[in-house]
Order: sequence, then C-alpha cells, then structure tokens
Amino acid sequence: ASVVQRLWRGRASASMLSPRLQRAMKEYVSGNKHHVSYKGHRRAAQSAKELLCQMKAQARLRTVDGSEPPFSSLGWARLVPALPLEELHRRQDQSGFKTCAVVTSAGAILRSGLGKEIDTHDAVLRFNAAPTEGYERDVGNKTTIRIINSQILANPRHRFNTSSIYKNVTLVAWDPAPYTVNLHKWYASPDYNLFGPYTEHRKLHPGQPFYILHPSYVWKLWDVIQGNTQENIQPNPPSSGFIGILLMMALCEKVHVYEYIPSMRQTDLCHYHERYYDAACTLGAYHPLLYEKSLIQRINAGPESDLRRKGRVTLPGFSTVNC
Ligand code: C5P
Repeated sequence: ASVVQRLWRGRASASMLSPRLQRAMKEYVSGNKHHVSYKGHRRAAQSAKELLCQMKAQARLRTVDGSEPPFSSLGWARLVPALPLEELHRRQDQSGFKTCAVVTSAGAILRSGLGKEIDTHDAVLRFNAAPTEGYERDVGNKTTIRIINSQILANPRHRFNTSSIYKNVTLVAWDPAPYTVNLHKWYASPDYNLFGPYTEHRKLHPGQPFYILHPSYVWKLWDVIQGNTQENIQPNPPSSGFIGILLMMALCEKVHVYEYIPSMRQTDLCHYHERYYDAACTLGAYHPLLYEKSLIQRINAGPESDLRRKGRVTLPGFSTVNC
C-alpha cells in the first residue's frame, strides 16, 4: 500500500519514506537541537477514546501570560491580551464554537472545490502565510484564527506588519524553546526572534487578539505523539498543523481538518500557493509529521470516503469528550 493508504488506516512508519527523507529524519534525531530527552512511556495501542482523553488531559491550552520570569519583570502581564484565548471565543451560553475548520496549506487542496464547505464553519483556522485571495474556490475566504511560526514575525519577506493576511484575525504565534522549557534561555535565544515584533505589534494594535503559545504546551503535544509511537520520532516540535488541530479541539465542539491526511489528490506540491515541490512538506523531515498524521487518523471519527474525496478528518472537541 502507498504511504497515503497506510495513513488512511492509521499505520505509518519511517520505513515507508524515501531514502532521502529517512536520512533527513535520522539527522534531526542525532542532531537533537532542542535537547529533548523523553522520560515518559510508549503506549502501544490505546483506543481512540483513550487517546482523546490523554490529549484532553495532557494538552491543556496554554499561552504566555506574563506571570513567569523573565516575562513578569518585562511587564508582559499588561502586554498580552486581557482575555485568555480560551475565553475569547466563548459565547453567552459559555460554549465555544460549534463547528470549526482547520485548513492546511497542502498543495493537494488545489482543485478541491472545498471553499464553500469550509466557509460554512463557525470558525476557520489557517496557517502562516497561506492566502485566501485567488484561491477562494478551493480554500474559502473566511479566517478566524491564524497560527504563525516565529519566522513569519522575524523574516521581513513576510511583511508581517503590513500584509492584510495578518489583519482582522486572532493571531497565535509559536517558537521552539528548549525541551526543558527554560524561559530565560528561550527569551535570550529563540529560534527566530519573535519577542521584539510581538511587543511592537501589541503596542501598535492592542485591540487585536494576539497570543504566543507557551512552549510547555508545544512540548506536551510532542510528548503525546512520542508517547503513542513505538519508533523514535523527530525531537523537534510538532508542525503548526498538529498544534492548530489540538488548539481547535480545545475551542470547538466539532473540528473538520482539511488535507492534513492527504486525499487522493495527494501531490508533492508543498503549498497550494507556491510552485515548490517537496514530499517532506507532506511527510515530514524536521517535524514528526508522519507520526502526527498517524495519530490524528487514529482519532478520526469520519468515514474513509471523506479522506479520499476531501482529505477531511472529523474530530470531537474536548468539551464533548467525557473521560
Ligand atoms: O508549511 P506550513 O507549516 O505553513 O503549513 C501549515 C501546516 O499544514 C503544516 O504545519 C502541516 O501540518 C500541514 N501541511 C501538510 N502538508 C503539506 C503542507 C502543509 O500537511 N504539503
């Protein structure tokens, strides 16, 4: 069976990757840039329900709130939005969004015609610099939340301060910290410097909800992936895609994810908005993407026909999972 068919069945292993991607993975494992040392167990075969309960308990949404050093002495408690991200979108009846869409940037979404379906959701999550303009038929045009990695903030190429992509949406940024979550070390040397641009943006646009994910949240998500995988996964943070899926499971009652597990349109085209081809975008090199996807398939409640035709996974929000 092809890599995609194995993913559709929730079974994936590095041995299915091309020799080039296997080499790239091995180099990240031996490089161990973020000094990961995993101390937890490796559960072989948890049921979907057990997995969901573990995710719900272990991956409690957390953002930098300015209560810990060094951020506390830098005045971040007043710099970050007053309302926590979990409360921002809570309605009068205390529930979050009913239905949410997570739209990955995969090339496979081109010519999907999924735009209308995506826009019917109460909230739509998109990633990094992925545009809607010019691609509405396939990806829709509604954006509620955008997850951005620190490169978007640090690299002038993305025109973070001027591009309309980053306006009128809730922004959630993240950057890999050391696995030990030493906030002093992280602040002194982030992967890409997001702290300056974040502070500046908060001061210029205090009304726009803009959060930084707490590194402990990011690494707890990684722990869930490693803790449910027999092989050694890449010791690097999960992809923005995985982070976004779990974020929306915390904010929504029902989540549809598009083209994370590839549909039959699967392609080496990296992003729908760029002419760049690399299988690593879909199967992973730096990020433990293959293992993330396998885990998400294991909790998929939708039929295989949704995967085939739409690259669509259906997940319950954590508020609806009784553990
Ligand atoms: O490349 P970027 O990180 O901006 O893409 C957003 C997310 O979409 C990725 O983190 C990954 O989870 C997902 N993606 C994918 N397959 C691709 C491209 C992106 O699964 N070909």
